Amino acid sequence: MTISWDPDRYEALPLPHEEWGQRVVNKMELNGNEILVDAGCGSGRDAALALSRLPRGSIIGLDSSPTMRAACERRFIGSAQVKICAADLMETWPVETESVDAVMSVAAFHWLGRPERAWEQVARVLKPGGRVRIDAGGEGNIERLLAAVDAVSAGDLLPLWHYAGVDETIGHLRCVGLTPIEVNLRIAPAVFQTDVIYLDYLKNVVLHRLSDEQRTQVARTMGDRCVDYVRLEVFAAKPHSAASK
Ligand SMILES: C[S@@+](CC[C@H](N)C(=O)[O-])C[C@H]1O[C@@H](n2cnc3c(N)ncnc32)[C@H](O)[C@@H]1O
Repeated sequence: MTISWDPDRYEALPLPHEEWGQRVVNKMELNGNEILVDAGCGSGRDAALALSRLPRGSIIGLDSSPTMRAACERRFIGSAQVKICAADLMETWPVETESVDAVMSVAAFHWLGRPERAWEQVARVLKPGGRVRIDAGGEGNIERLLAAVDAVSAGDLLPLWHYAGVDETIGHLRCVGLTPIEVNLRIAPAVFQTDVIYLDYLKNVVLHRLSDEQRTQVARTMGDRCVDYVRLEVFAAKPHSAASK
């Protein structure tokens, strides 16, 4: 199911995603010279923050959405440090094997019905000793919101999100030879300030395929503007030698 992202509306909204991105980038503890992949880079907000910490490094942004990639390319126009590539994260990434120091991803891995395929690619592209940090929707994410969508009989218009849990993710990491360092679920409710912002958020971030009327019904069913986010936060490393897998 293809989603048509509107990067201008996405960027204009006061989204918790910005704080999630800051958490990921801050915790990457970049030295300044790394080659970094941003998997599901969107319009490039998190990549811009990461770039400010990479005076001698570079970023490869991967995303499947043409509109998000175009916005990302506009953001980094003229920068020799950033390359944006079309990629489905569940297929082979257009990145050389063992060529990057770090991978980050914000609010993208739950869009992957088969996240284990993306973990396989993370393990492939990382150099030995490389590290990965992601934020994504995790087990239990937006359950109230999903129940409200079901209540208005619009469940079949949702993308096939997969909200992975801790044990499942540790299994995926180990299976591809990555060492889990931190794998947590974090309860992170977000409250939208006005009805207009809330409906704009529903339209442009989660419920793209519903009609305006269905989104209004969902908002009414929820009864408040609180979205019950649960974040899966993962930090893992690739061992220095194959023997330590
Ligand atoms: C909620 S946005 C997050 C964008 C950005 N990381 C941020 O935090 O602002 C999710 C992004 O994941 C991308 N995405 C979803 N499924 C994908 C897939 N299978 N392969 C590549 N990108 C995908 C979307 O195109 C979108 O840009």
